[in-house]
Amino acid sequence: MKYPNFPKDCKSMLCKYLTKDVFEELKNRKTPNGFTLEMAINSGVKNPDSSIGVYAGDKESYEVFDLLFDPIIKEYHGFGKDEKHTSDFDAKKLDMDNPDPKGEFILSTRIRVGRNLDGFPLGTIISKEQRDEVEKIVSNALKSFKDELQGEYYPLKGMTSTIQEKLIKEHFLFKEGDRFLEAAGLNRDWPEGRGIFHNIDKTFLVWINEEDELRIISMQQGGDIKEVFTRLSLAVSELEKDMKFLKSDHLGYITSCPTNLGTAMRASVHIKLSKLSQNKELFKNITDKFHLQIRGIHGEHSESEGGIFDISNRRRLGVTEVECAKDLYNGVKELIRVEKSL
Ligand code: ADP
Ligand code: ARG
Repeated sequence: MKYPNFPKDCKSMLCKYLTKDVFEELKNRKTPNGFTLEMAINSGVKNPDSSIGVYAGDKESYEVFDLLFDPIIKEYHGFGKDEKHTSDFDAKKLDMDNPDPKGEFILSTRIRVGRNLDGFPLGTIISKEQRDEVEKIVSNALKSFKDELQGEYYPLKGMTSTIQEKLIKEHFLFKEGDRFLEAAGLNRDWPEGRGIFHNIDKTFLVWINEEDELRIISMQQGGDIKEVFTRLSLAVSELEKDMKFLKSDHLGYITSCPTNLGTAMRASVHIKLSKLSQNKELFKNITDKFHLQIRGIHGEHSESEGGIFDISNRRRLGVTEVECAKDLYNGVKELIRVEKSL
């Protein structure tokens, strides 16, 4: 394997931190599951417009390829290699009101966490049999969910394209054919082993075997972050009764992309900021100050429509779940205050 040929204008963290020395040091290493440097960097090599460009194959990847992952984790989360991650998913600690009680700005709120099963490699190198087993374990566990969390599992295989497209358009289902995931090995055997569970109201959903083995999601109309968080916290603890998630003291929950480590939580609102979004510099200054990320209306790598943005916490590691939700709350309060003043 040769040192990759990055284009001159490449701005990915892979390109920044995979120096020739780091490459030489790591190029012959392998994790116990057989994950190599070549596999870790393929997505960023094939997609030079990546912002990050690396994926892990298992928990050990973060140790075996530490010379590459550590500086990326430090830059993305501000989290050092000697720090410990702590979790706090206690909804009672979220002391907050609805930041938009009259429903003037926030259309909907969604909080998701990523999880992977202990005892399995990550989706980048999981075998078809293992992936099918993950699907079985998770969908079986969900069958016993009661009350508000009760629902049904819909495998992607056999789903009509009309239903699939409708679920994607309404923001409930993952997209198909993402080129970053493709190059990371995460789309192998598509659509086998993939699917979506949801309750009747589609306020509690679980994606199975997309970028992570589980994406556990709570969402609803309006801006009640606390209610969405409370439902998610309950659902995660119910799932934990039936399965063990992959985690470490240092990195928290282990995910295939280093941006999702720790809490693996992305708490977001769809918010209409017609005036503020015209002033790009001010908009970005506020989101940066409150550690928020701006995405388009159809999620990552999509554009905004009609002045509506997807605003979410950026940090996920070295902060607790409660702090992730507070990052969103504090930032959204400020965005609404400024939007009103313009
Ligand atoms: P993820 O958040 O799972 O990492 P994406 O950014 O691709 O991945 O978002 C997944 C889907 O969730 C997209 O359809 C996106 O529009 C939708 N979504 C995200 N936040 C919200 C929200 N606050 N309200 C409604 N839909 C949302
Ligand atoms: N690999 C892509 C990139 O580097 C996505 C990174 C973060 N997003 C994610 N879904 N993991 O741009």
